[in-house]
Amino acid sequence: MPAFDASAYGRGIADIYDATVRGLPTDQAVDLLHELADGGPVLEFGIGTGRLALPLAARGLEVAGIDGSAEMVEVLRGKPGGDRVPVTIGDFSTATADGSYALVVLAANTVYALPSQDAQVACFRNAAAHLRPGGRFVIEAWVPDPAAFRDGSALRLLLMTEDAVVAEAAVLSPAGQHMHTTRIRLTAEGVRLLPANHRYAWPAELDLMARLASMEREHRWSDWARTPFGDDSRAHVSVYRRSA
Ligand SMILES: C[S@@+](CC[C@H](N)C(=O)[O-])C[C@H]1O[C@@H](n2cnc3c(N)ncnc32)[C@H](O)[C@@H]1O
Repeated sequence: MPAFDASAYGRGIADIYDATVRGLPTDQAVDLLHELADGGPVLEFGIGTGRLALPLAARGLEVAGIDGSAEMVEVLRGKPGGDRVPVTIGDFSTATADGSYALVVLAANTVYALPSQDAQVACFRNAAAHLRPGGRFVIEAWVPDPAAFRDGSALRLLLMTEDAVVAEAAVLSPAGQHMHTTRIRLTAEGVRLLPANHRYAWPAELDLMARLASMEREHRWSDWARTPFGDDSRAHVSVYRRSA
């Protein structure tokens, strides 16, 4: 399993990241996050190229970020309004941003980019430390699905259009709840391999991490449209709240 590194993912994908997330329900996510922030300042862990942060800022919210990848943040800086978002370059399980926030956001499964349970617990504590009393921590993540693997590996098709095919090869290491994936992206420009490491966790484990950080779960939906979370949910949007 390649080493986890807060800057590696962005280094490998920054130039095409926005093209890879075009199909995500960004408008729905921004609507819900805007509502949960309730007019207060927002801090995004793993702010990346500003997919969520820039539309939130455009709606009048004060937005800041932490990210491990200078390359991703450079793409953010090149977008309208991107130079007005303060970003700390660092690991969001330990790095700090000035201010006290109404909402801390960790979207797009990025909690799993942290290498261990310890680092994820530290991340929840870091989120709580940045929140005002009563503030919220929102996580978007997939629900682990070991049944999708056979003999520890899986290959699945993620996208097939006339001009792009994206497949993902994945290897599971259940003892430490690790998964290594490489996305294979075929377009007219050629082949790109996009590797990523994940330390996955079930929703209940994330709830316990929140409790260790003195936060309680307020909501859990299976998507940004607030579809109720249930037995068949493959992902979740969970909202934790620091006590007032
Ligand atoms: C999948 S992207 C998500 C970007 C953005 N939040 C979005 O929803 O489009 C993950 C981002 O988290 C950053 N990242 C990954 N691990 C990190 C870590 N340990 N500390 C800080 N940033 C990290 C990456 O550089 C990347 O910008």
